[in-house]
Amino acid sequence: MSWRGRKLLGSYSCLVVLLIKFWCFTVISAEEGNFDHLIIDSPQQPDQIDQTDAASNAYEARTYTQPCSGLSQCVPLSECSSMFVSIAKSCYSGDRSMFCGGSDDVPHVCCPSSPLERNQVCGKSLVQGQFYRGLGTFPFIARIGFKNVNTGSIAYPCAGSIISRRVILTAAHCALAKADGHRLSSVRVGEYDLSTDPDCATTGFCAPRSINHAISHVVVHPDYKPGQYHHDIALLVLKTPLNYSVACQPICLMTSRTDLVIGKRATIAGWGKVSTSTKRSSEMQYMDIPLTAWDMCLRVYGSTGALDSPNSVDGQWMCAGGEGKDVCQGFGGAPLFIMQDGMYSQIGIMSFGSDNCGGVRIPSVYISIAHFADWIHDNTPIE
Ligand SMILES: *[C@@H]1O[C@H](CO)[C@@H](O)[C@H](O)[C@H]1NC(C)=O
Repeated sequence: MSWRGRKLLGSYSCLVVLLIKFWCFTVISAEEGNFDHLIIDSPQQPDQIDQTDAASNAYEARTYTQPCSGLSQCVPLSECSSMFVSIAKSCYSGDRSMFCGGSDDVPHVCCPSSPLERNQVCGKSLVQGQFYRGLGTFPFIARIGFKNVNTGSIAYPCAGSIISRRVILTAAHCALAKADGHRLSSVRVGEYDLSTDPDCATTGFCAPRSINHAISHVVVHPDYKPGQYHHDIALLVLKTPLNYSVACQPICLMTSRTDLVIGKRATIAGWGKVSTSTKRSSEMQYMDIPLTAWDMCLRVYGSTGALDSPNSVDGQWMCAGGEGKDVCQGFGGAPLFIMQDGMYSQIGIMSFGSDNCGGVRIPSVYISIAHFADWIHDNTPIE
């Protein structure tokens, strides 16, 4: 079944490419007819033809590679699936300005250089089933590994989210965590049940084995101060890119707050202690919690001083939970996300909470993705 998910995705891409070819290049071929006429009427080389002439533009789109502006690169359309819909739309209306060259078979488009925008498809689970919750449901959660320098064993105190093939988003307090004899060492992806490897679903399909990826470097928000609670955000850049699979996919990032109204329900997932269970489960845990008014967090954390750290800025936090259940130790850095337009979009990063975890009217505090969207974007390396 895992192969089916993959294939579905693949043939979807192909279908879109085919449609685009149909819309765009049948038009271009038709115009080529005119173009041939032009050549017959007044013979000249293609590069001498007036650039404003529609037919020559069509010819050009087919044969030449044009430079792309600013932060984009000219790549085959098949490598830029984030553009499929907009390209198809503009083609349909006869606009081919988004093409930068290539041929009938391999149309090229100006594609954003940033892997966050170019990103194939984000926020998708390849496993079907509205009520299915298991292997592959939330494939974008990674575990952050710290190696014991004496024994070599690895502990995973925190989680993060996969946002591109080389970048894991997490909390700064996780990236900089210092425990005696432990060093930040790796990121583990493709995990679901910690007690089995590979993980297999009850329906019989198995995911590829989980993989530990070495970390190349860490980008911590420059305003984060260890021991304080503001700007708790970091990126872990991996040495080698991830291979996406049924258990390893990127999550989308929610860059706007517009839909994040109080009472909206969001999901947090990861491995660790949840207040509703006395023992830790080896399977990925998830919990639906409501977004709550900031006042509720102020009431609980205002007097602790955590929220008035120097340099702390308005709007960087979100408050969620407080319904008498919560995720506790082990969920630091884990993504808080919603389902929007059929995609999982991350809206927050688990930052801190109360020792009275899961108490009624005891919510937890999350770093707002919308607030840090520009920082994340600017610090995600181009692939
Ligand atoms: C990803 O896939 C490529 C091509 O199959 C392979 O060479 C590479 O080793 C894989 N990387 C990882 C981390 O599995």
